Amino acid sequence: MTDTAQASDSTQAGYDAFKSRRLDLNLTRGKPSAEQLDLSAALLALPGSGDHQAADGTDCRNYGGLQGLPEARRLFAGLMEAPPDQVVVANNSSLALMHDAVTFALLKGTCDSAAAWSAPGGIAFLCPVPGYDRHFRICEDYGIRMIPVALGDDGPDIDEVERLVAADPSIKAMWCMPKYSNPTGTVYSDAVIERLASMPAAAPDFRLLWDNAYAVHHLTADRLAIANVLELAARHGHANRPLVFASTSKITLAGAGLALFAASPANIKWLLARLTPRTIGPDKINQLRHVRLLRDAAGIEALMDRHRAIIAPKFQTVLDVFGERLTGLPDVSWTTPKGGYFISLSVPRGRARRVVQLAKEAGLELTPAGATHPYGKDPDDRVIRIAPTFPELRDVALAAEGVAWSVLMACGEPSA
Ligand SMILES: Cc1ncc(COP(=O)(O)O)c(C=O)c1O
Repeated sequence: MTDTAQASDSTQAGYDAFKSRRLDLNLTRGKPSAEQLDLSAALLALPGSGDHQAADGTDCRNYGGLQGLPEARRLFAGLMEAPPDQVVVANNSSLALMHDAVTFALLKGTCDSAAAWSAPGGIAFLCPVPGYDRHFRICEDYGIRMIPVALGDDGPDIDEVERLVAADPSIKAMWCMPKYSNPTGTVYSDAVIERLASMPAAAPDFRLLWDNAYAVHHLTADRLAIANVLELAARHGHANRPLVFASTSKITLAGAGLALFAASPANIKWLLARLTPRTIGPDKINQLRHVRLLRDAAGIEALMDRHRAIIAPKFQTVLDVFGERLTGLPDVSWTTPKGGYFISLSVPRGRARRVVQLAKEAGLELTPAGATHPYGKDPDDRVIRIAPTFPELRDVALAAEGVAWSVLMACGEPSA
């Protein structure tokens, strides 16, 4: 028997043994585990009966305060890297805020638009790939053309971005996840951020949809800082270009957190005007309880350290298993993120869907191949998103083994 045949026999045996355990594992869920949610258990008892008055005397039980409580805006000003008067604190889900910002622009235009973005002619967004499926879903639902741009080690292919944005006035926005991107963990370099902030755009109302969802979600002791896009854009004469989003979904409670927005004064005015017919004000009780729990930037950091203690070992387990089983396999690689919620696994061209299928047959659910690309189609069928935070550590280890066996199997099969 040849070496190759032996290797393939042992792969089949390993995969079969894994499958015969009839496990029910899931690596699709990019959400905090119950243990992480427990870190914020105190929120459920806050602010406590009788404690409903904000520092300025606002009765948080009542209507009003569209921009968010002043102390909540102060609390998150550091995370958002903007002065409190350029911060909006809204109800849970920054995705909802991103959705609303896009639909407001479609319906009414931005503060720099001559017409609504939905005016005849059609518009496009630049979409660094691999990326976040829910960004793409917003575009798909509203008929916004998606132009993929390759994401490299230091951010999107900036030469290509500059070329496209300068030439095409129908390109109105670009999705950006500047820190610990979903799913690659990419961190944009300061040089790339400065070029995004300063590049000429054919559309005078071009926007960077700056989704900083993982601003404080470090996986190492190195709390990476990136360039301040709001400051840079203002310095280069494009103050209204960035719309910065974040949330406490993966700081406190994913389903009961706060969404955060920061932008230029003109954009803040624009958003508040658009929100006015939508709501009389946000849930200020939730804002008050977050202020009581987190207190200040140091409080946020301390809580994030506790999250890191829970999830960093899960990431390390996946990386250890991949390192042990997959090192040296041609065209197989994976990211080693320093933060965020995902690892991105690349397999040989045309094999990602097969890996996901093999994993499923062996009792392991993986995010569908293609989800990381516009319209759910990865043209190379290479990228698989791995989400290790939610299962228990023991299950993460088992699941990583399952991924490795599925990759080895798919790589051993003849080309389709
Ligand atoms: C990049 C990114 N942005 C936004 C979200 C959703 O954030 P929120 O819970 O604030 O809606 C996620 C969730 O996985 C994400 O990965």
